[in-house]
Amino acid sequence: MYKLNNIYKSYDNEKTFVLNNLLLEVNNGDLLAITGKSGSGKSTLLNILSTIDKPTRGYYTFNNINLDNMTNDQLASFRNSHIGVVFQEYNLFSEFTVQENILLPTVFNKNKNNYFDEITKLLGIDFLLDKKAKLLSGGEQQRVAVARAMINNPDMILADEPTGNLDKDNAEQLFKMLKNLNERGVTVIAVTHNLNFAEKFKNIYELKDGQLFKQK
Ligand SMILES: Nc1ncnc2c1ncn2[C@@H]1O[C@H](COP(=O)(O)OP(=O)(O)OP(=O)(O)O)[C@@H](O)[C@H]1O
Ligand SMILES: [Mg+2]
Repeated sequence: MYKLNNIYKSYDNEKTFVLNNLLLEVNNGDLLAITGKSGSGKSTLLNILSTIDKPTRGYYTFNNINLDNMTNDQLASFRNSHIGVVFQEYNLFSEFTVQENILLPTVFNKNKNNYFDEITKLLGIDFLLDKKAKLLSGGEQQRVAVARAMINNPDMILADEPTGNLDKDNAEQLFKMLKNLNERGVTVIAVTHNLNFAEKFKNIYELKDGQLFKQK
């Protein structure tokens, strides 16, 4: 179980709060979409879930591990082995090949694995491995970004507007990939303002006035 307990987030010394006493409980293996208007705090929330940013107040427990007392180095290492993040703009290294991009997170991880062949097949990018990232289509880049997020076999995948640059068919494909990973036991949380995409998820919350409201 992953829990956000009474989370507040302010960027202006607590004059205003983007997240305001927010509560969230996510079960292991959940497939969750979080929707909300532009500026409602979706990326802010995702950055806290991914441990990239810390709340102003409140605490986050990750399978009973309280992350608040960790140093930034400990958090970076924790994140590397437990959490995969797919960014809106993919953040691939354009001059690196597909294979190099996917394997990057393993450089910092001692648990070397043989997972590479399996996920590149699963995501249908095994024929692209030697191609430079800058030569890929949007949908291919998206799949490489998902593979990179998966490579250390995380417990949780977080995706920020994953369909932002995708057409309807590629968005459908992406959902199938996330669902496939979810069926293998990975907890998936996506934030999006694409309601058609959100509708496919098992659970949906709306972020509004700094709090989450269950829609489904
Ligand atoms: N690093 C920051 N410093 C100051 N203000 C910030 C910072 N990050 C976000 N904000 C503010 O917090 C609010 C929520 O921003 P956030 O990016 O979380 O929204 P969002 O729901 O992801 O929006 P979008 O759908 O446009 O991506 C906005 O008013 C934004 O200006
Ligand atoms: Mg955002």
